[in-house]
Amino acid sequence: MDESVLPRTIWWETDEKTGASGVYLIDQSRLPLQGDVLCCNTHEGICVAIATMALRGAPALGVAAAFACAIWSENESEETTVASYITALDAIAEKVSSLRPTAVNLARGASRISGYAHAQSDRPLSEIKAGVVAEAKAVCEEDEALCRAIGEYGASVFKDTEAIRELDGEYSGGVHLMTHCNAGSLATAYFGTALGVIRTLDSQEKVAQVWVCETRPVNQGARLTTWELMADGIPSVLICDDMAADVMARGWVDAVIVGADRICANGDVVNKIGTYGLACLASLHDIPFYVAAPHTTLDPSCASGSDVKIEQRDPREVEGFACTGIILPDDAVAARAFDSLTEKGTRELKLKNGHRMDISRKGGAYSFDAWMRTTPPGVLVYNPAFDITPSKLITAIITDKGVFAPSEVAASVE
Ligand code: MRU
Repeated sequence: MDESVLPRTIWWETDEKTGASGVYLIDQSRLPLQGDVLCCNTHEGICVAIATMALRGAPALGVAAAFACAIWSENESEETTVASYITALDAIAEKVSSLRPTAVNLARGASRISGYAHAQSDRPLSEIKAGVVAEAKAVCEEDEALCRAIGEYGASVFKDTEAIRELDGEYSGGVHLMTHCNAGSLATAYFGTALGVIRTLDSQEKVAQVWVCETRPVNQGARLTTWELMADGIPSVLICDDMAADVMARGWVDAVIVGADRICANGDVVNKIGTYGLACLASLHDIPFYVAAPHTTLDPSCASGSDVKIEQRDPREVEGFACTGIILPDDAVAARAFDSLTEKGTRELKLKNGHRMDISRKGGAYSFDAWMRTTPPGVLVYNPAFDITPSKLITAIITDKGVFAPSEVAASVE
């Protein structure tokens, strides 16, 4: 992995001159064609980024939740007593945790910060506040370290794989992997879980190719995973979700590796919708199916997948498609027209058939965010964001603590 190519997902910055702090994050809702960096000076800003999926992926959500509590503490909290501060912090943690129900890391990141404050309640308020920021930064740093450990353990699963050799222009050796959604650097503080394994294997020259499922309806595979793999120069091929069976049947997949949003006590894995289908297909074709996740994604309080609340999302994700882009006015007349359209801020255009387009100006550039309907108005839609893969379909779960049979993974955090 060329560390200079991929941006960090989320980070804390304090201006040396002014002392002002902010949380910075890459807006993933517009990647890969626009890579805006959002600066959040309030917890509300981070809440909006989470709700709109500008930031997503279970481990990254955990970091964002910790930072939301910390930025509130640093920039917004006006409480003067420890007791009132802790009560208010608990409410912020609760609010952040409720934004997305399925990924356990979100609530865990928030409760780690409120738990820290409770544990320090006999100290002066100023010290607790400084400690809260340090704790949130630690959540971020630790997450990257967990991912790197997952990478090492994951690569050990493929230790007998022959490294790639070039023979008369032909390549031999290396594994052909398939992945789903984005369990990459963008879904974590940095480096990634499933993609962390792939990156580590690639550094050993053992990745022949990665099949990337597009991951309808939000297209995290098509937009984010391909972008990450291409940035790293790891050979990858994008397929529509419904092509996975054909690719497996042709013998072109040696193993499937995905991330997780929550891992239950019995080893059931809750992950992006479509994961269960891939696991069924892998089982049918005798292809090993691996899950890679930090131990912070384990939730022994959920006995099985049926205990997990599955997030239902906006039907518009399925009823059409969203896209974003930059407008290049080709002469001064067109530029003046866009200036006048956007002079009062974002301008929503009224379009036929329920399509939508917002035009806005950023500095000297004009951009659009559009949503185009592809379905009949009024169509009924079911749009769960995640599904449950039963433990019996999972070959092994790779965490930062080792490689486990699904039935044994919960014991690794006891
Ligand atoms: O809805 P998202 O994009 O937040 O869902 C992300 C996933 O399902 C990932 O596969 C999962 O969080 C693992 S990320 C390391």
